[in-house]
Amino acid sequence: MSIHDRCVRRFQILGLFLLATSVCLSSGCAQRITAAGAAEVASLAPRAASPLFDPALADALLESPDRDRWQKPAQIVQALGIRPGMTVADIGAGSGYLLPYLSRAVGPKGRVIAEEIQKPFLVRLRKRAAELDNVRVVEGTAADPGLPPGGIDRFVLLTVYHEVDQPIAFLRKLRMSGRSGSRLAIIDFDAARHGYPPAPLGHELPESSVIAEARAAGWLLNEKQEFLSSQFFLVFQPTIVGRAKSTSL
Ligand SMILES: C[S@@+](CC[C@H](N)C(=O)[O-])C[C@H]1O[C@@H](n2cnc3c(N)ncnc32)[C@H](O)[C@@H]1O
Repeated sequence: MSIHDRCVRRFQILGLFLLATSVCLSSGCAQRITAAGAAEVASLAPRAASPLFDPALADALLESPDRDRWQKPAQIVQALGIRPGMTVADIGAGSGYLLPYLSRAVGPKGRVIAEEIQKPFLVRLRKRAAELDNVRVVEGTAADPGLPPGGIDRFVLLTVYHEVDQPIAFLRKLRMSGRSGSRLAIIDFDAARHGYPPAPLGHELPESSVIAEARAAGWLLNEKQEFLSSQFFLVFQPTIVGRAKSTSL
């Protein structure tokens, strides 16, 4: 075979590969990935969601003075590649611990959505948002975060996931609200880690169930961060990109 023939052959193979990839992404493969995730989930031990965090404990636990030391919020924001102008959703924002960090990172042209389902937290979040120009508070429900489709660049679930009752359906809703190139961060207490602080009893979960549930909801594991000693930090990307039409928030 001449050099010319070999080059033509390589381009043909590359073309076939690209064609197969685009057909796969736009049609069945993403669904098959989701179906594989569902089968994986079915094989896992059933897991009950933890009770909702008691807002009366927020000052002692969520806003505790030593939290920054182990939670490393500035590093979380940096690891997520949050940039000025982005729209970031803090899902289950609680008392708003992460808001100042997110607000600073997206800057005046960006937007932070602080989503929550418990009324006492919503009151606290509104007070906090009034001091930050770029934060909007959204009241969701346990099954639906209530975000419009296609506008979010980054979703952050910081110690929230273990309380979500129907995680797969919930993560599917989030995916519909993601912009092209969106990322979902799930950070929570890991049953297999023994770092500081220890997981509150009954509030830990295995990383493997989260990865399988996310896969079933159409989110693929993109990377893992390892700088939190008792929590996993998983970053996902959507299996189907650019589906949702963007709606401004
Ligand atoms: C342990 S607190 C963490 C709050 C905050 N993310 C932080 O790290 O400081 C868990 C929060 O998740 C919220 N939550 C639980 N299930 C939720 C759901 N399905 N949708 C939105 N928020 C939820 C609870 O109301 C609570 O505020």
